[in-house]
Amino acid sequence: MRSVYVDDLQNHVGETVTVRGWLYSKRSSGKLLFLIVRDGAGLAQCVLFKGAVSPELFELADSLTQESSLKVTGEVKKEERAPGGYEISVTGLEVVQITKDYPITPKEHGTAFLMEHRHLWLRSSRQHSILRVRHEIIKACRDFFDSRGFTLVDTPIFTPAACEGTTTLFETQYFDQKAYLTQSGQLYNEATAAAFGKSYCFGPTFRAEKSKTRRHLMEFWMVEPEVCFAELEEVMQLAENLVVFVVQRVLENRQEDLKVIERDIAKLEQVRSPFPRLSYDEAVKTLRESGSGIEWGDDFGAADETMLSLMHDRPVMVHRYPTSVKAFYMQPDASRPEVALCVDVLAPEGYGEIIGGGQRVHEESLLRQRIAEHHLPEEAFRWYVDLRKYGATPHGGFGMGIERVVAWVCGIEHVRETIPFPRMLYKIYP
Ligand code: 4AD
Ligand code: MG
Repeated sequence: MRSVYVDDLQNHVGETVTVRGWLYSKRSSGKLLFLIVRDGAGLAQCVLFKGAVSPELFELADSLTQESSLKVTGEVKKEERAPGGYEISVTGLEVVQITKDYPITPKEHGTAFLMEHRHLWLRSSRQHSILRVRHEIIKACRDFFDSRGFTLVDTPIFTPAACEGTTTLFETQYFDQKAYLTQSGQLYNEATAAAFGKSYCFGPTFRAEKSKTRRHLMEFWMVEPEVCFAELEEVMQLAENLVVFVVQRVLENRQEDLKVIERDIAKLEQVRSPFPRLSYDEAVKTLRESGSGIEWGDDFGAADETMLSLMHDRPVMVHRYPTSVKAFYMQPDASRPEVALCVDVLAPEGYGEIIGGGQRVHEESLLRQRIAEHHLPEEAFRWYVDLRKYGATPHGGFGMGIERVVAWVCGIEHVRETIPFPRMLYKIYP
């Protein structure tokens, strides 16, 4: 018998096919038995009528428990009332395994319990939809850069030095020396951009974030473009275009999943160019007027970020933060060296920072000075300084955290549901 996936049933109306999957739920009304089968591609309503099939087949179907694995065969019919719009009239059933005591039942479970069973929770329709949106977002990022002349150049995971400050490094042994899990591919991107003109990397990044918030993971995925000759303005435009493109793609291709997650789509439809732009100075002024205790020179606290993000119906770009709160590689503004040519993109609805980036120091002596001021190991950065000796150019780029974007686009409370197996503070199971 021909095996098909549920999302392909529409092309097999009138044919007898086999669907291979798991029992999602079961319901009976006397003579009728409805099996809802999930196969990862969708849900199929499979129906058995007592008088029309053998008693053995009816009994076997009736004995199925939630998440039992099976192969079900029958004729495909159009049925408006069925999930997905098609139904299978069952004529055959092969049980692969009867599942006993599946821990996740249709009743409400607490988050701690569900996180403990994350390996199974992924099968639930809401989690499934969130991860499909994640896939769409990742693909959209790749398509965006691939179609704009960027070369994907992967950067290493084991690194000899910090990129984003030494307080969040995961240290590991690398034979006879110490190494760190990468916090960002940026520094290597600067080398690849000089080779390819514009490049991007897309991989996992690691931060030993000691704070327990709804925005932080220890391991997260970041897409990072880097462009030679690009100054801050060009970097900001690229970031804006990427965000608009990604949201548009999800709206085009993931309507069904957004419905499952109950996302307010009108909010996403407002994500259009141009994004409001705000200097750090203006942002501090606005925050103080709204009751924040922030002083010029402070980094934004989580509450400040949330406040700014709630003030606009689309992402807002905050640029030119004080150099003192930003990483060592930030290019200072020539007319005001106390601020850096950098930008953060804050997502609306309280989600906060999804992108961080800007222009990099491209002058050798200033870079050496910054490395010293930040007490970074000169030797580990020798290659990085080299980039300022041989054909230095102004250049810049940014990093967009995938989980933060998925949380915002899906409208979910916490980043832990945006990655298949979240790594959280002190938690590494499953
Ligand atoms: O602002 P960040 O630290 O910037 C960088 O790492 C730059 N080197 C990127 C670059 O210019 N190429 O991080 C960038 C983004 C943040 O805006 C956020 O979306 C995400 O990475 N991010 C995190 N996401 C989840 N959990 C964490 N602990 C995160 N830390 C940063
Ligand atoms: Mg940042």
